[in-house]
Amino acid sequence: MVCVIIAAAGQGKRMGSSVNKVFLPLAGKSVLAYSVLAASTARGVTHIVVTAAPEETATVSRLLAELALTISWQVVAGGSERQYSIANALNVVPDNMDMIIVHDGARPLAQTALFDQAVAAARQHQAAIAAVPVKDTIKAADDTGLVTGTPDRRTLWAVQTPQAFSAKVLRSAYQQAAQDGYLGTDDAALVERLGITVKLVPGSYENLKITTPEDLRLAEVLLAKEQEVKTM
Ligand code: CTP
Ligand code: MG
Repeated sequence: MVCVIIAAAGQGKRMGSSVNKVFLPLAGKSVLAYSVLAASTARGVTHIVVTAAPEETATVSRLLAELALTISWQVVAGGSERQYSIANALNVVPDNMDMIIVHDGARPLAQTALFDQAVAAARQHQAAIAAVPVKDTIKAADDTGLVTGTPDRRTLWAVQTPQAFSAKVLRSAYQQAAQDGYLGTDDAALVERLGITVKLVPGSYENLKITTPEDLRLAEVLLAKEQEVKTM
């Protein structure tokens, strides 16, 4: 059985909106509603844990109740960093789950098929994450703005969520990170520290993370295009 953890306990500071960006509307539904709905219909998913800022747990619970999901769900208070939010969620993931998917509530355009592909690859490799080739050349620079190097673009991938893991592996990765005081920027980084090789699965450039106001406008355009295709 598969459990999905959806991270929604951030503040959305870069969005500059007065409410958490995951509550912002996108063609009639909230950003978070899209993320939850896509995850909830993925193969094998029987439970969802959503992280919410402590003062927003009631709001998130109401939003989830309105979705009338056919699978069980719960809301857990997040922490000051995304990693701490996921750690709190992991503590309540039922013991009978063999796979755990971690997904950003701020990625409303992730397709259900991508969750399925991540889980299938994680069953083989223990850890699998959605990623796309970077389009820009990436430079390394020091803090005065002087370039220190140019990594070969062919080896660089922009990683997304969903990220899928064997439950046992993700739990040990989080335990180890807590023990070492390690703070990573994605879940896979914690697993990599265990010496486990993470598999990339092809994500989508459309699977954007809603971060700044332009992202919301772009998501609206992409959703409208999807609707058009569906009604053709
Ligand atoms: N998140 C979380 N707990 C945190 C921080 C982030 O659950 N302490 C969630 C966010 O709600 C978001 C996802 O992790 O869905 C990805 O994080 P990010 O895009 O950085 O969202 P925010 O932290 O909310 O935005 P910002 O960094 O601009 O404040
Ligand atoms: Mg953040």
